[in-house]
Amino acid sequence: MNLIYAIKDTVPEAHILKLGTMGEYGTPNIDIPEGFFEIEYHGRKDTLPFPKNASSWYHWTKVHDSNNLMFANRVWDLAVTDVMQGVVYGTRTQEIADTGLFTRFDIDEVYGTALNRFTAEAIIDVPLTVYGKGGQTRGFLSLNDSIQCLTLALEKPADHGEYRVLNQFDEKYSVEQLAEMVQRIFERDYGKIPEIAHVDNPRVEKEDHYYNPEHRKLELLGYRRTKNIEDEIRDAISDLSRFRSRLIDLKDTLMPKTFWKKSAYDYT
Ligand SMILES: NC(=O)c1ccc[n+]([C@@H]2O[C@H](COP(=O)([O-])OP(=O)(O)OC[C@H]3O[C@@H](n4cnc5c(N)ncnc54)[C@H](O)[C@@H]3O)[C@@H](O)[C@H]2O)c1
Repeated sequence: MNLIYAIKDTVPEAHILKLGTMGEYGTPNIDIPEGFFEIEYHGRKDTLPFPKNASSWYHWTKVHDSNNLMFANRVWDLAVTDVMQGVVYGTRTQEIADTGLFTRFDIDEVYGTALNRFTAEAIIDVPLTVYGKGGQTRGFLSLNDSIQCLTLALEKPADHGEYRVLNQFDEKYSVEQLAEMVQRIFERDYGKIPEIAHVDNPRVEKEDHYYNPEHRKLELLGYRRTKNIEDEIRDAISDLSRFRSRLIDLKDTLMPKTFWKKSAYDYT
């Protein structure tokens, strides 16, 4: 809200590029459009924002940001691109390769993403911790291609008065597929097969569901995928292996300790 008001009052012609997440949509049992869809109800039709149904407080905060921006656009004509980004993987962009200045890489049970965690777990020889059945499916893209998309969105901005939603991901994978991918790569490149452990799911989420989001608009803006997920995992393994002893120090942060259904009073 501070940002919206500052822009409205001082640079109303600025283009706002906001990083939302595909997690805002949740996992509905129908296709997910890019922001808006046409709906018929009781014989009447309208084009409406697709209902958001996030599956964590974090993702709901992003929904609230999206709603605020959509309304700011409606009343003040601000130009907004709201990016619904899939899960980002990988450790490299050209700038990182040129400078050696790595970004942060979270692997812990709260901030870490599943693929990051699996990669780290394989390197330190502990089982890959798949939550529940592992059928949880999401859209993914590489860090390098995420930056490519954001650059495109800035170079080809939303028009004055436009609120534009872009679904930003390449391919969908289930958590189980990701674990198997890490397993395969480790077997091929290092001759060892990491174990996959199905641990009790600490979250409240569907473990087996339909998932089919659209993602055409970035391609129409000129986006072309540059990175293959398996190559990216290989690079990540090689980058992370340099920090193996730090990963070992972080071992205790890998297993879930935050159980969504448990009362806050039980965390003693
Ligand atoms: N990582 C993903 O898979 C993913 C997926 C979808 C969306 N996103 C979104 O992309 C964005 C970046 O995600 P990330 O994974 O790179 O997160 P991150 O936590 O690794 O990086 C966030 C960066 O923002 C900086 N930051 C935090 N508060 C700030 C402030 N007040 N002013 C300036 N900088 C501040 C942090 O220091 C950090 O460098 C977030 O908005 C996140 O919700 C990430």
